[in-house]
Amino acid sequence: MLIKRPADIKPHEITEPALYRDRRRFLQATSGAALAFATSGLFLPAEAAVGRKLPDYRKNPRLSTDESPNSLKDITRYNNFYEFGTHKEDPAKHAHTLRTEPWTVRVEGEVEKPADYHLEDLIKSAQLEERIYRLRCVEAWSMVIPWVGIPLADLIKRFKPVSRAKFVEFTTLHDPEQMPGQRRAVLDWPYVEGLRMDEAMHPLTILAVGLYGKILPNQNGAPIRLVVPWKYGFKSIKSIVKIRFTETMPKTSWALAGPAEYGFYANVNPAVDHPRWSQAKERRIGEFLKRKTVMFNGYTDAVAGLYAGMDLRRNF
Ligand code: MTE
Repeated sequence: MLIKRPADIKPHEITEPALYRDRRRFLQATSGAALAFATSGLFLPAEAAVGRKLPDYRKNPRLSTDESPNSLKDITRYNNFYEFGTHKEDPAKHAHTLRTEPWTVRVEGEVEKPADYHLEDLIKSAQLEERIYRLRCVEAWSMVIPWVGIPLADLIKRFKPVSRAKFVEFTTLHDPEQMPGQRRAVLDWPYVEGLRMDEAMHPLTILAVGLYGKILPNQNGAPIRLVVPWKYGFKSIKSIVKIRFTETMPKTSWALAGPAEYGFYANVNPAVDHPRWSQAKERRIGEFLKRKTVMFNGYTDAVAGLYAGMDLRRNF
């Protein structure tokens, strides 16, 4: 992965932690962020640009971290979304060209109910939840993000995979008109990611459609993106148009681009360094001192069983 090392993070990219828990201050903080976007002439990441509203959702404190979320500004202006450029500020500047309505998700492969599903219908018939998760990027930075999403297991049950389905492959939209970064061969487009079926069915795995109570800003992977909180951020593929159930392990974009550097599993693991940098510590965006990275990003109790007996140095 093209990497911007934490030491390269400029001072203006460091902002105070969000004030999410105090609702009044939260509202002030977010409208302040909106104002900052408006005055800077950048794309406003609110739902103003599109008609889709987020339906009611319930909070899930049991599956949420109690750490303070990063500010909306951090979450929407410091992004990896190579379809819009390789710099952290590119997605906020350029992702407005992505048209997220109407949006269909094709479900195919080893499944009883293959179809083109309208996103509206998938969302309407689902129980949305807010989950506050840490996102640990493979580049050794992290954030805390209040996602609103659908448990992936709920959707998979509706699609009814057959017993041959051992993996789930996800594909991002491929349209260089809307995603100008795809005109450059940075990756072999479209972006593809995958999970083993038990990882996909795990209760922590969600498809996010919103954050901070609003529909997902384009730069964060609108209108629907994967979130797998115990894995490095690159697994959490954005702007998904296809979900395919397969018998064999999907060939994922980063593993194809750098097989010695990016594995299929990509579990957060401070003991297994990336060949070019350490994974022992991370820099929480908005903080000065580094934190220790924790195994499975802190979700060991919930997910270690998925990898019992596996050598996580070889299956990185
Ligand atoms: N999905 C697509 N389609 N393209 C990308 O470049 N970047 C990944 C992941 N999903 C990426 C993607 C990486 S490296 C990270 S760290 C997360 O998105 C960043 O998500 P965020 O911008 O919402 O924080």
